Amino acid sequence: MYVKRQRGWEIPERLATPESVYFNRRQILAASGLGLAAAALPRPGRAAETDPTADLYPAPRNSKYTIERPVTPESINTTYNNFYEFGTQKDIWEAAEALPIRPWEVKIDGLVEKEITTDFDTLIRRMPLEERLYRHRCVEAWSMTVPWTGFPVSELVKYANPLGDAQYLRMETFMMPDVATGQKQIWYPWPYVEGITMAEANNELAFMVTGAYGKPVAKSMGAPIRIHLPWKYGFKSIKSIVRFTFTDERPVSFWEELGPSEYGFWANVNPEVAHPRWSQATERDLATNERIPTRLYNGYTEYVADLYTGMEDQRLFM
Ligand code: MTE
Repeated sequence: MYVKRQRGWEIPERLATPESVYFNRRQILAASGLGLAAAALPRPGRAAETDPTADLYPAPRNSKYTIERPVTPESINTTYNNFYEFGTQKDIWEAAEALPIRPWEVKIDGLVEKEITTDFDTLIRRMPLEERLYRHRCVEAWSMTVPWTGFPVSELVKYANPLGDAQYLRMETFMMPDVATGQKQIWYPWPYVEGITMAEANNELAFMVTGAYGKPVAKSMGAPIRIHLPWKYGFKSIKSIVRFTFTDERPVSFWEELGPSEYGFWANVNPEVAHPRWSQATERDLATNERIPTRLYNGYTEYVADLYTGMEDQRLFM
């Protein structure tokens, strides 16, 4: 059953706080000396200093995936987030700091040779870490450029050893309503779930993220492990994953379950296909605060267009 209500990213763009106001607030804070007080507060990513995987960073940058846009400052990326488990606004980073990320168990199940339950710290040390610069485009029409660290999703697939009849990879976020109080809002279909096809999982761009900005990824950004699929709208890039399931049934994702007419399975970026309530033609680049044209597949056509040939009858965008 779909209950209609206002969600954070559903507000029309003209009603959302303009980024200029958001940035001015930061500048005013800094200029007034309040910035100094703020410096004494805990900051997202600070736990990285004691993270048991800190020695793995920075990982070598893979120069194949460098891009033309300026990197979004870390201070923006760690404090301007969508993470509904901790609230429907962008400023969830402090609430997210409460997430206990050690120990962190990851389960791999479904259509696999043998179910695996592994500790994240063990898993990451089996994987070839590298840094990639990727564009990150939210369905709300803002974008960032992020230096992610992680490993190809195809490496996880290899490790999992799925059976031949696995067609999809379903991913699930933790369930901890006492810590992530957004999960007490029972009208959302928790836990957050996402899914991709095996072909998408094995595409070279599909990236398991464990770090960003040369250190373990901040909790607000999905520590200790999330995915990033740069050619799709950001909601497909599920955070703080605890379970990977190989299946022959197409997973119904969190947003698809809430609003199937607005959020589909594929959700590939396309400036020509508007969201039912706003245009996707342009996006606000949070690094520069400029509005720039959105590109088909977020500029990654050469890598992913082949995945969708012969599927013209499907709703590939949104
Ligand atoms: N994953 C979980 N578990 N919960 C969420 O609310 N939000 C999604 C995605 N992954 C979300 C999530 C959305 S809408 C976006 S745009 C991106 O995370 C935001 O990632 P960022 O905060 O690192 O920019």
